[in-house]
Amino acid sequence: MTDDVGTSASISIGDRTLDLEVLSASLGSDALDISKLRASLNTVTYDPGFANTASTRSSITYIDGGEGTLRHRGYAIDDLAEKCTFLEVAYLLLYGELPNREQLDEWTTSVRHHTLLSEEMKRFFDAFPRSAHPMAILSSATNAISTFYEAYYDPKSSDAFHESAVRLIAKMPTIAAWAYKKSISQPYMYPRNDLTYIENFLHMMFGMPVEETKVDPVIARALNVLLILHADHGQNCSTATVRFVGSSDANLFASVAAGMNALWGPLHGGANQAVVEMLSAIHDDPTMTVERAVTRAKDGDDPFRLMGFGHRVYKNYDPRARILKKFADDVLSRVGLDDPLLEIANQLEMAAREDDYFVSRNLYPNVDFYSGIIFRALGFPTRMFTVLFAMGRLPGWIANWKEMHDDPATRIARPRQVYEGTVMRDYVPITER
Ligand code: CMC
Repeated sequence: MTDDVGTSASISIGDRTLDLEVLSASLGSDALDISKLRASLNTVTYDPGFANTASTRSSITYIDGGEGTLRHRGYAIDDLAEKCTFLEVAYLLLYGELPNREQLDEWTTSVRHHTLLSEEMKRFFDAFPRSAHPMAILSSATNAISTFYEAYYDPKSSDAFHESAVRLIAKMPTIAAWAYKKSISQPYMYPRNDLTYIENFLHMMFGMPVEETKVDPVIARALNVLLILHADHGQNCSTATVRFVGSSDANLFASVAAGMNALWGPLHGGANQAVVEMLSAIHDDPTMTVERAVTRAKDGDDPFRLMGFGHRVYKNYDPRARILKKFADDVLSRVGLDDPLLEIANQLEMAAREDDYFVSRNLYPNVDFYSGIIFRALGFPTRMFTVLFAMGRLPGWIANWKEMHDDPATRIARPRQVYEGTVMRDYVPITER
């Protein structure tokens, strides 16, 4: 099909040929521009799940799944996780550069001054049953707060974008913490302007109005790293959803709420909750040993999978899991916890690494494998894990929404299909069916 990928390519169907432009990537795979294929040859490409399709050009995140590399705006994830605050990384993703001191102060101050939710939102939280999953509350509340900001609905206004982005990032910890407080029937805690972004979230999550909240710096530092590790990850399911929804000019709040719902599934962000549930089952159920879990995961007739293993893109160790594995021991020892689930996780990883099934399929632990254990050690309930993933991923979603709007070619998303249904039939009245 291609004659010299890198400079030119062509595709022939029967006696018709179309020259295709080759788009050069600065790193990674180049791409064939097939946008004229249907118009020229009345043919579309078939790529279910879009695993071989670049839906956009992007300069936000680079991933090399084979090498296990992850960079944001050119910076290695290891450097960002070790040296930055989450708000610095959010700024980098949104605006393309790490902020200087003045920019960071201004950015942090604006985020700090928009953390409050409108008082009317309290009734919104009250309306959910106590048993409501916090992810359902998170996405609903994110959509709901858009009703207070209709002035920022114009997707072409960069001021409106900035104002919406600041509000989303500022209010997300408040929404997340209130979703949790609702589930345990405790009073909603108001944000405090004297605290950092992370401290403020921990204060609203775990604080009580009757006493001063004491935030443990070890927990705050660990959460900072965890949020950075989740901040963006290229065109994954939830980010693609945010772009898809935003491509119809739906506002940023509505688009991000849709991304949260995509994230919720256990094959995506919901895996961190599923990992801890799986490790707990191995711990609590005497019939479910590490060996049994590995055997079941290999059985093609059994739907059981090792949660936290495998990745659509990484066919090598997920660099985020590598950072977290080291971090898990450290965090657990610092918070003085001896979690048997970490030991089970280590055993499971070793068993999988020595098993040909996992080795031959390049199934390594992904970010969710260790993040759940750390979230647990930090005191977060299991049902909040995916909410924490969403808080971390928020800047990535916003940056992708903006990049999509800056490139008119990516709007309005409209994939094609290969129709395989009945060609044509006559209507049959109900009495004759
Ligand atoms: N346990 C057992 N077998 C697996 C697993 C697993 N976790 N993951 C993949 N496989 C097998 C799969 O059955 C298939 O085997 P075969 O070739 O014999 O049919 C082979 O490996 C390839 O699997 P696949 O489903 O084609 O791989 P994929 O790249 O499409 O799927 C995945 C990626 C993440 C959906 C999958 O690995 C999985 O279900 N993992 C468990 C859920 C999980 O941890 N998700 C978190 C993803 S990372 C965080 C995020 O970005 O959201």
